Amino acid sequence: MSNWKPGDGVKSPVENFKEIPFSQMEPAERYRHLISTVIPRPVAFVSTVSKEGVGNLAPYSFFNALSSNPACVMISASPLGNGEPKHTLRNIKDTGEFVVNFSADWMIDVVAYCGAAFPDGVDEMEVVGLTGLPSLKVKPKRVKESPAHLECKLHSLIPIGDGGPGSTTLIIGEVLTAHIWSEAYTDGRIDPKKLSPLSRLGGAWYGTLGDVLFRQIPSV
Ligand SMILES: Cc1cc2nc3c(=O)[nH]c(=O)nc-3n(C[C@H](O)[C@H](O)[C@H](O)COP(=O)(O)O)c2cc1C
Repeated sequence: MSNWKPGDGVKSPVENFKEIPFSQMEPAERYRHLISTVIPRPVAFVSTVSKEGVGNLAPYSFFNALSSNPACVMISASPLGNGEPKHTLRNIKDTGEFVVNFSADWMIDVVAYCGAAFPDGVDEMEVVGLTGLPSLKVKPKRVKESPAHLECKLHSLIPIGDGGPGSTTLIIGEVLTAHIWSEAYTDGRIDPKKLSPLSRLGGAWYGTLGDVLFRQIPSV
Protein backbone atom coordinates (compact mmCIF):
# COMPACT_ATOMS: atom_id res chain seq x y z
CA MET A 1 0.00 0.00 0.00
CA SER A 2 1.27 3.47 -0.86
CA ASN A 3 1.85 6.12 1.85
CA TRP A 4 1.13 8.95 -0.59
CA LYS A 5 -1.21 11.75 0.61
CA PRO A 6 -2.55 14.94 -1.01
CA GLY A 7 0.12 17.63 -1.05
CA ASP A 8 2.98 15.13 -1.40
CA GLY A 9 3.21 15.75 -5.17
CA VAL A 10 5.29 13.25 -7.06
CA LYS A 11 8.95 12.46 -7.58
CA SER A 12 9.58 12.65 -11.34
CA PRO A 13 12.70 12.40 -13.53
CA VAL A 14 11.26 14.98 -15.99
CA GLU A 15 13.24 18.24 -16.32
CA ASN A 16 13.31 19.97 -19.73
CA PHE A 17 10.99 19.90 -22.75
CA LYS A 18 11.40 20.26 -26.50
CA GLU A 19 8.52 21.82 -28.42
CA ILE A 20 7.26 19.77 -31.37
CA PRO A 21 5.58 22.34 -33.66
CA PHE A 22 2.76 20.19 -35.04
CA SER A 23 1.21 22.97 -37.13
CA GLN A 24 4.46 23.45 -39.10
CA MET A 25 5.06 19.75 -39.78
CA GLU A 26 4.18 17.44 -42.68
CA PRO A 27 1.37 14.94 -41.95
CA ALA A 28 3.82 12.00 -42.01
CA GLU A 29 6.02 13.64 -39.37
CA ARG A 30 2.99 14.49 -37.23
CA TYR A 31 1.84 10.89 -37.54
CA ARG A 32 5.22 9.59 -36.43
CA HIS A 33 5.27 11.87 -33.39
CA LEU A 34 1.64 11.21 -32.51
CA ILE A 35 1.87 7.42 -32.56
CA SER A 36 5.12 7.49 -30.59
CA THR A 37 3.58 9.75 -27.92
CA VAL A 38 0.06 8.38 -27.50
CA ILE A 39 1.15 5.01 -26.13
CA PRO A 40 0.33 2.29 -25.34
CA ARG A 41 -2.59 1.75 -27.69
CA PRO A 42 -4.69 -1.41 -27.57
CA VAL A 43 -4.91 -3.21 -30.90
CA ALA A 44 -8.32 -4.01 -32.34
CA PHE A 45 -7.97 -6.95 -34.72
CA VAL A 46 -11.02 -6.17 -36.84
CA SER A 47 -12.85 -8.81 -38.81
CA THR A 48 -15.30 -7.83 -41.52
CA VAL A 49 -16.92 -9.40 -44.57
CA SER A 50 -17.14 -7.79 -47.99
CA LYS A 51 -20.45 -7.52 -49.80
CA GLU A 52 -19.18 -10.39 -52.00
CA GLY A 53 -18.78 -12.50 -48.83
CA VAL A 54 -14.95 -12.46 -48.50
CA GLY A 55 -13.63 -12.25 -44.94
CA ASN A 56 -11.05 -9.61 -43.94
CA LEU A 57 -8.91 -9.17 -40.85
CA ALA A 58 -6.72 -6.16 -40.06
CA PRO A 59 -5.19 -4.48 -36.97
CA TYR A 60 -6.24 -0.99 -35.88
CA SER A 61 -4.56 0.68 -32.91
CA PHE A 62 -6.39 4.00 -33.17
CA PHE A 63 -9.00 2.20 -31.12
CA ASN A 64 -10.85 2.78 -27.89
CA ALA A 65 -14.07 2.39 -25.92
CA LEU A 66 -16.38 5.43 -25.99
CA SER A 67 -19.58 4.88 -24.06
CA SER A 68 -21.67 2.24 -22.35
CA ASN A 69 -25.26 3.31 -23.13
CA PRO A 70 -25.17 2.51 -25.96
CA ALA A 71 -21.91 0.58 -25.63
CA CYS A 72 -19.74 2.06 -28.34
CA VAL A 73 -16.17 1.59 -29.50
CA MET A 74 -14.28 3.42 -32.20
CA ILE A 75 -11.56 2.66 -34.67
CA SER A 76 -9.99 5.12 -37.05
CA ALA A 77 -9.21 4.05 -40.63
CA SER A 78 -6.93 6.29 -42.66
CA PRO A 79 -7.00 5.98 -46.47
CA LEU A 80 -4.39 3.98 -48.37
CA GLY A 81 -1.52 5.89 -50.00
CA ASN A 82 -3.51 6.00 -53.27
CA GLY A 83 -6.47 7.59 -51.48
CA GLU A 84 -8.62 4.43 -51.65
CA PRO A 85 -10.38 3.30 -48.45
CA LYS A 86 -8.94 0.32 -46.60
CA HIS A 87 -10.89 -2.95 -46.88
CA THR A 88 -12.09 -2.67 -43.28
CA LEU A 89 -13.77 0.70 -43.88
CA ARG A 90 -15.14 -0.36 -47.26
CA ASN A 91 -16.65 -3.54 -45.80
CA ILE A 92 -18.14 -1.76 -42.79
CA LYS A 93 -19.70 0.85 -45.08
CA ASP A 94 -21.15 -1.92 -47.26
CA THR A 95 -22.40 -4.26 -44.53
CA GLY A 96 -22.68 -2.17 -41.35
CA GLU A 97 -20.99 -4.92 -39.30
CA PHE A 98 -17.63 -5.75 -37.74
CA VAL A 99 -16.04 -7.70 -34.90
CA VAL A 100 -13.28 -6.30 -32.69
CA ASN A 101 -11.03 -9.19 -31.66
CA PHE A 102 -8.67 -8.16 -28.86
CA SER A 103 -4.98 -8.70 -29.51
CA ALA A 104 -3.16 -10.68 -26.84
CA ASP A 105 0.63 -10.75 -26.60
CA TRP A 106 0.70 -14.27 -28.09
CA MET A 107 -0.81 -12.78 -31.27
CA ILE A 108 2.00 -10.32 -32.14
CA ASP A 109 3.17 -12.12 -35.30
CA VAL A 110 -0.27 -12.50 -36.86
CA VAL A 111 -1.22 -8.93 -35.91
CA ALA A 112 1.89 -7.47 -37.56
CA TYR A 113 1.49 -9.72 -40.62
CA CYS A 114 -2.11 -8.63 -41.18
CA GLY A 115 -0.97 -4.99 -41.22
CA ALA A 116 0.22 -5.64 -44.79
CA ALA A 117 -1.89 -4.34 -47.69
CA PHE A 118 -3.35 -7.57 -49.06
CA PRO A 119 -5.13 -7.41 -52.41
CA ASP A 120 -8.92 -7.64 -52.75
CA GLY A 121 -10.39 -11.08 -52.22
CA VAL A 122 -7.80 -12.30 -49.68
CA ASP A 123 -9.01 -13.48 -46.28
CA GLU A 124 -6.14 -12.74 -43.88
CA MET A 125 -7.63 -15.07 -41.25
CA GLU A 126 -6.98 -17.99 -43.61
CA VAL A 127 -3.60 -16.67 -44.79
CA VAL A 128 -2.14 -16.48 -41.28
CA GLY A 129 -3.85 -19.67 -40.08
CA LEU A 130 -6.29 -18.35 -37.46
CA THR A 131 -9.54 -20.11 -36.57
CA GLY A 132 -12.80 -18.37 -37.42
CA LEU A 133 -15.70 -18.87 -35.02
CA PRO A 134 -19.23 -17.93 -36.06
CA SER A 135 -20.58 -14.75 -34.46
CA LEU A 136 -24.04 -14.62 -32.91
CA LYS A 137 -25.35 -11.25 -34.14
CA VAL A 138 -23.18 -10.34 -37.13
CA LYS A 139 -21.71 -12.06 -40.19
CA PRO A 140 -17.94 -11.50 -39.68
CA LYS A 141 -16.26 -14.37 -37.87
CA ARG A 142 -14.53 -14.08 -34.51
CA VAL A 143 -10.91 -15.09 -33.99
CA LYS A 144 -10.78 -18.11 -31.67
CA GLU A 145 -7.16 -17.44 -30.65
CA SER A 146 -8.15 -13.96 -29.35
CA PRO A 147 -9.29 -13.75 -25.69
CA ALA A 148 -12.20 -11.33 -26.22
CA HIS A 149 -14.51 -10.35 -29.06
CA LEU A 150 -16.99 -7.50 -29.50
CA GLU A 151 -19.67 -8.03 -32.13
CA CYS A 152 -20.53 -4.56 -33.46
CA LYS A 153 -22.99 -2.89 -35.77
CA LEU A 154 -22.11 0.44 -37.35
CA HIS A 155 -23.31 3.39 -35.26
CA SER A 156 -21.79 6.26 -37.25
CA LEU A 157 -18.93 7.34 -39.48
CA ILE A 158 -17.16 10.63 -38.88
CA PRO A 159 -14.76 11.86 -41.55
CA ILE A 160 -11.81 13.88 -40.23
CA GLY A 161 -9.66 15.91 -42.63
CA ASP A 162 -9.86 16.30 -46.41
CA GLY A 163 -9.39 12.64 -47.43
CA GLY A 164 -5.67 13.19 -48.14
CA PRO A 165 -2.64 11.90 -46.20
CA GLY A 166 -3.17 12.03 -42.45
CA SER A 167 -6.95 12.28 -42.67
CA THR A 168 -9.19 9.50 -41.44
CA THR A 169 -12.67 8.12 -40.96
CA LEU A 170 -13.73 7.49 -37.41
CA ILE A 171 -15.79 4.30 -37.33
CA ILE A 172 -18.06 4.12 -34.30
CA GLY A 173 -19.61 0.75 -33.61
CA GLU A 174 -22.29 -0.27 -31.15
CA VAL A 175 -21.41 -3.47 -29.31
CA LEU A 176 -24.28 -5.93 -29.68
CA THR A 177 -22.70 -8.73 -27.73
CA ALA A 178 -19.29 -9.72 -26.38
CA HIS A 179 -17.39 -12.94 -25.76
CA ILE A 180 -14.67 -13.25 -23.12
CA TRP A 181 -12.35 -16.23 -22.72
CA SER A 182 -13.95 -18.18 -19.85
CA GLU A 183 -10.63 -18.52 -18.03
CA ALA A 184 -10.29 -14.74 -17.87
CA TYR A 185 -13.83 -14.27 -16.51
CA THR A 186 -14.72 -15.09 -12.91
CA ASP A 187 -17.82 -13.91 -11.00
CA GLY A 188 -18.44 -11.08 -13.49
CA ARG A 189 -14.85 -9.82 -13.31
CA ILE A 190 -12.31 -9.80 -16.09
CA ASP A 191 -8.70 -10.63 -15.22
CA PRO A 192 -6.44 -8.15 -17.08
CA LYS A 193 -3.41 -10.41 -16.73
CA LYS A 194 -5.22 -13.29 -18.41
CA LEU A 195 -6.23 -11.06 -21.33
CA SER A 196 -2.50 -10.27 -21.77
CA PRO A 197 -3.18 -7.25 -24.00
CA LEU A 198 -0.74 -6.45 -26.76
CA SER A 199 -0.28 -2.74 -27.26
CA ARG A 200 1.17 -0.77 -30.10
CA LEU A 201 3.86 1.79 -29.39
CA GLY A 202 5.65 4.01 -31.94
CA GLY A 203 7.20 2.61 -35.12
CA ALA A 204 7.26 -1.18 -35.15
CA TRP A 205 7.37 -1.44 -31.33
CA TYR A 206 4.81 -3.28 -29.26
CA GLY A 207 4.24 -3.52 -25.53
CA THR A 208 2.89 -6.11 -23.15
CA LEU A 209 1.04 -5.52 -19.90
CA GLY A 210 3.90 -5.50 -17.39
CA ASP A 211 3.04 -4.73 -13.75
CA VAL A 212 -0.62 -4.35 -12.84
CA LEU A 213 -1.22 -1.66 -10.17
CA PHE A 214 -4.31 -0.98 -8.08
CA ARG A 215 -5.50 2.49 -6.87
CA GLN A 216 -9.08 3.41 -6.14
CA ILE A 217 -10.45 6.90 -6.87
CA PRO A 218 -11.19 8.47 -3.46
CA SER A 219 -14.32 10.43 -2.57
CA VAL A 220 -13.20 14.02 -1.85
C1 LIG B 1 -0.52 -2.91 -35.01
C2 LIG B 1 -1.07 -2.11 -36.15
C3 LIG B 1 -1.98 -1.11 -35.91
C4 LIG B 1 -2.54 -0.38 -36.97
N1 LIG B 1 -3.44 0.61 -36.70
C5 LIG B 1 -4.04 1.27 -37.72
C6 LIG B 1 -5.01 2.26 -37.45
O1 LIG B 1 -5.38 2.54 -36.29
N2 LIG B 1 -5.58 2.89 -38.50
C7 LIG B 1 -5.25 2.58 -39.80
O2 LIG B 1 -5.81 3.17 -40.72
N3 LIG B 1 -4.31 1.65 -40.08
C8 LIG B 1 -3.72 0.98 -39.08
N4 LIG B 1 -2.78 0.02 -39.34
C9 LIG B 1 -2.50 -0.31 -40.73
C10 LIG B 1 -3.55 -1.28 -41.27
O3 LIG B 1 -3.64 -2.44 -40.47
C11 LIG B 1 -3.16 -1.66 -42.71
O4 LIG B 1 -3.28 -0.53 -43.54
C12 LIG B 1 -3.97 -2.83 -43.24
O5 LIG B 1 -3.41 -3.24 -44.48
C13 LIG B 1 -5.41 -2.47 -43.44
O6 LIG B 1 -6.07 -3.62 -43.88
P1 LIG B 1 -7.49 -3.59 -44.56
O7 LIG B 1 -7.33 -2.86 -45.90
O8 LIG B 1 -7.77 -5.05 -44.76
O9 LIG B 1 -8.44 -2.90 -43.65
C14 LIG B 1 -2.16 -0.67 -38.31
C15 LIG B 1 -1.21 -1.69 -38.56
C16 LIG B 1 -0.67 -2.39 -37.48
C17 LIG B 1 0.33 -3.48 -37.76
